[in-house]
Amino acid sequence: MLLEIQDLSVEFLSDSPDAPPAHAVDGVSLSLDRGQVLGLVGESGCGKSATAMSIARLLPSPPARVTSGRVLFDGRDLLTMPIEELRTFRGDKIGVIFQDPMTSLSPLHRIGDQLEEVVRLHRDLSPKARRDLALEWLARVGIPEPVQRARAYPHELSGGMQQRVMIAMGLILEPDLIIADEPTTALDVTIQAQVLNLMRKLYRKNSGLLLITHDMGVVYQMATRIAVMYAGQVVEANESAEAFFKAPRHPYSRALLDALPSTATRGKRLKAIPGQVPFAGNFPSGCRFHDRCPEAKPECAANAQVLTATSGGHVRCSNIR
Ligand SMILES: Nc1ncnc2c1ncn2[C@@H]1O[C@H](COP(=O)(O)OP(=O)(O)OP(=O)(O)O)[C@@H](O)[C@H]1O
Ligand SMILES: [Mg+2]
Repeated sequence: MLLEIQDLSVEFLSDSPDAPPAHAVDGVSLSLDRGQVLGLVGESGCGKSATAMSIARLLPSPPARVTSGRVLFDGRDLLTMPIEELRTFRGDKIGVIFQDPMTSLSPLHRIGDQLEEVVRLHRDLSPKARRDLALEWLARVGIPEPVQRARAYPHELSGGMQQRVMIAMGLILEPDLIIADEPTTALDVTIQAQVLNLMRKLYRKNSGLLLITHDMGVVYQMATRIAVMYAGQVVEANESAEAFFKAPRHPYSRALLDALPSTATRGKRLKAIPGQVPFAGNFPSGCRFHDRCPEAKPECAANAQVLTATSGGHVRCSNIR
């Protein structure tokens, strides 16, 4: 297995000493192999980014703290690996594409230089070969006039262009694991399709892709397996995205998908479900979704739900049909 997250829990300490920590990630287990795309979905605030960032130990600590779990990458635990060694993995074996371009682009350096630097750190190539590779990837992610654009500083580019540069940075070394958090959200549809195709080519070759997105159309097109998170926990997982879309089992998954027209899911975002994701410092007792669940029974408020094996996956609901 390329990536195995086992029982991962992450909390954020709060600023004030008497406020409880936020349990952003609570006992999450996920796995992903080469040639697969794991679509990780759920509403805003349910812990997707905290999970993804923990894989490469990119959460600032404090306030973040991993309180349990292992993150096995090709069998090695990234959470306990010496940080110097982990740095050699980042970029080279693990490519990360963030939600916000400004977290991974330096405002002080030209984008071409930043791309070349990623290559220089991990590959033994001549300056000319580094340059050519950087320009090639700028073109691949749909940046027009790459030679001129390579000389730009990030602030001279639009948000969509910055996003493309960041995608190029995450992919240029063709990593074994690609972690992409809302990678195409800021892009128009044509460029989005181009970038998704690029990612598809890479993962089919020899990589695994962890794809976090609100866009169910993208998940539908790309994912080979699915995990749905709610309030810090996985509430449903399926090894087959196809089976999941045919028959989502958890009421939360169904609520997410019911918001979509039956076939044309492309470009559709998760519609708001009535109510809100609870704050991670204060989850309701019983099933964490019970107060928003259209199928809740009285006992759901009292009984915490456990993740139970089903055919091809897991579900955290004792009422499943
Ligand atoms: N730096 C932080 N300090 C304190 N709490 C945080 C921090 N980052 C995240 N959280 C909390 O952790 C929980 C999970 O956040 P996370 O960013 O992982 O959600 P998400 O599923 O990625 O949401 P989105 O779809 O909006 O990106 C939320 O309750 C959030 O408020
Ligand atoms: Mg996020």
